[in-house]
Amino acid sequence: MSVDILKISKDAIAASKIYDDVINASIGMFYDEDKSIGGMPIVSQAIRLLPDEKILPYPAVDGGIEFKNNVISWVLGQYEKSIREQMFINACATPGGSGAIASTFAIYSKPGDSIFVSDIRWQYERFADRAKLNVFEHKLFKGDNFDLDSFKKRLSELCEIQKQVIVIINDPCHNPTGFTLSETEFQEIINTLNLFVNNDIIFLYDLAYLDFSHEKDNRKKMTYLPQLKKHVMIILSFSGSKTFGAYGLRLGAAIGLSHDEEKVNQFHKKCVNEARGSWSATPTVSIELLNHFSKKENKNAFLKGLDHINTLVQQRSSSFIEQAKEIGLKTHPFRSGFYTVVLTPDPDKDYLKLAEHHLYAVPMSGGIRLALCSLSKQEIIGLPQKIKSILKL
Ligand SMILES: Cc1ncc(COP(=O)(O)O)c(C=O)c1O
Repeated sequence: MSVDILKISKDAIAASKIYDDVINASIGMFYDEDKSIGGMPIVSQAIRLLPDEKILPYPAVDGGIEFKNNVISWVLGQYEKSIREQMFINACATPGGSGAIASTFAIYSKPGDSIFVSDIRWQYERFADRAKLNVFEHKLFKGDNFDLDSFKKRLSELCEIQKQVIVIINDPCHNPTGFTLSETEFQEIINTLNLFVNNDIIFLYDLAYLDFSHEKDNRKKMTYLPQLKKHVMIILSFSGSKTFGAYGLRLGAAIGLSHDEEKVNQFHKKCVNEARGSWSATPTVSIELLNHFSKKENKNAFLKGLDHINTLVQQRSSSFIEQAKEIGLKTHPFRSGFYTVVLTPDPDKDYLKLAEHHLYAVPMSGGIRLALCSLSKQEIIGLPQKIKSILKL
């Protein structure tokens, strides 16, 4: 992907100072209906009320024991105890999910290797470029479902030529499509990874949008992880930027799990070394923000706010998808999430045409990605029709 999303968003902000009909659907940040950022006053309050000693000192490079326990509990939820009984686990704080991805690439690959990704995806090649890696693709969709055949076939091709393979799955609420794997699809992926016993598989599970999925139980897929055999090292990439709507703070974690204790020890050691030799440490304030919201009473209040956001995101996406269906505007299969992709014939030109009409979106994966998370319900009314008319679809 060659476009700079942050630049498109800046253009949109500049245009909105001149025109009052600007729609900025370029960037994956949640805005409330009144256009306040993040949507959770409780988060900004908590940041402001942190005492100096929870902001200013250097933190432990891995975030410290309290943070590690908290982030593991946060991600595994009610299944933590049972997973801990079955697998070894450790964690390292990172500056956003991005830090977890970058360090996984740095630790588990060598220049010239390929990472295994879907053909429609978020910008993993930016991280791959830096680590001098190539991408090896499988098809994401077959009709409206995950293309397991392509996943299996292409992974076996890569496993033939490379012993250590990083396999990235971005779920739930896949960016850019809003696709979420069903439990059956997830189980099939697990079964497939288990086939390659002669390889070292690094399963990088990018769950940046974990807290925004509309699944009945958005931690249920965690219960499938212990099925993975010893040749698989799991790295869960957590994004506090997304969960807390605190995008500029840089909060995330790499959580490593395996049945092989030595693999988990090595993961932790190397992650800490990677951090120390690149970004040094994750901001103390981010670490303490997660610690704050891990306390029961604070977490309950946070979850209430999160529920409000999730309801709104759901309403916005349903509204868009229903209108699009009614007028025959095609999107990639959508299940839940911050984004959807409208299929268009020439995305690199189409997004510029939309921008001429003050509608800012991002060309991506066969179409135009709209960040519905940042639009109000009012802005979404009539939006599919507007896109259809401008692009003559
Ligand atoms: C799929 C996906 N993974 C990871 C990230 C990284 O998030 P951050 O580094 O802000 O936590 C993003 C952010 O947009 C994302 O969309």
